[in-house]
Amino acid sequence: MIEFINISKSFKYKNSQIKALDHISLKIDKREIVAIMGPSGSGKTTLLNIAGGILKQSSGEYLFNNVPVEGNESEMAKFRSDHVGFILQHFALIKHRNILYNIALPLKYKNIEKKEIREKVVAVADSLGISSKLEMYPHMLSSGECQRVAIARAVVSKPNVILADEPTCSLDDDNKYEVLDILKKLNKNGITIIIATHNDAVARMCDRTINIRNGSNVK
Ligand SMILES: Nc1ncnc2c1ncn2[C@@H]1O[C@H](COP(=O)(O)OP(=O)(O)OP(=O)(O)O)[C@@H](O)[C@H]1O
Ligand SMILES: [Mg+2]
Repeated sequence: MIEFINISKSFKYKNSQIKALDHISLKIDKREIVAIMGPSGSGKTTLLNIAGGILKQSSGEYLFNNVPVEGNESEMAKFRSDHVGFILQHFALIKHRNILYNIALPLKYKNIEKKEIREKVVAVADSLGISSKLEMYPHMLSSGECQRVAIARAVVSKPNVILADEPTCSLDDDNKYEVLDILKKLNKNGITIIIATHNDAVARMCDRTINIRNGSNVK
């Protein structure tokens, strides 16, 4: 489903190039749940951003269902909207908008009626136990609840893939396991899940781990 062939990614900074990914290759099949592990700065977030069509690689090829992911910004936006749900580090909720609005965000770019958007949001919020919070604002929710809102936002558009960047790092142990449980259930329902993490417990519950160092596969 997801295939990186010799992908490198450099960022220009002042007069130098920072190599975030360095000829990395990997394959992730449909319905897998995979951990990406590596030290801070090893390229995990960069890898997820390329997989999700947020960033473009500098060289190499990215195939999604055997088709190269490429194109202009609106084609990339369509790719993201059709296939990908993101769960970002520290939730990344919009502070001045209520929970309903936050969860509905990925649906705004699709051609869906308001009433149907509300129904979809209520259904997904219900399944995650946050339907009583829809009119509230992010600062009124606990960290665990905020992460469930972030998960709701990632799944509301029924993506094929969820990319989760350190989804448990802002949570206490109880909430950590709850979030992992939710991700595991989503995976059982057929969603492919890729989790960037420093946490061994997260990696252990995945089907397998891809280790990276300095932007490359660990051999
Ligand atoms: N926009 C950018 N401009 C310049 N350098 C960048 C940019 N984004 C990432 N980098 C660099 O690329 C390298 C990989 O960063 P990345 O965020 O992918 O690491 P990471 O494995 O996710 O780290 P962490 O575990 O700390 O989140 C780092 O050296 C980082 O400084
Ligand atoms: Mg990161």
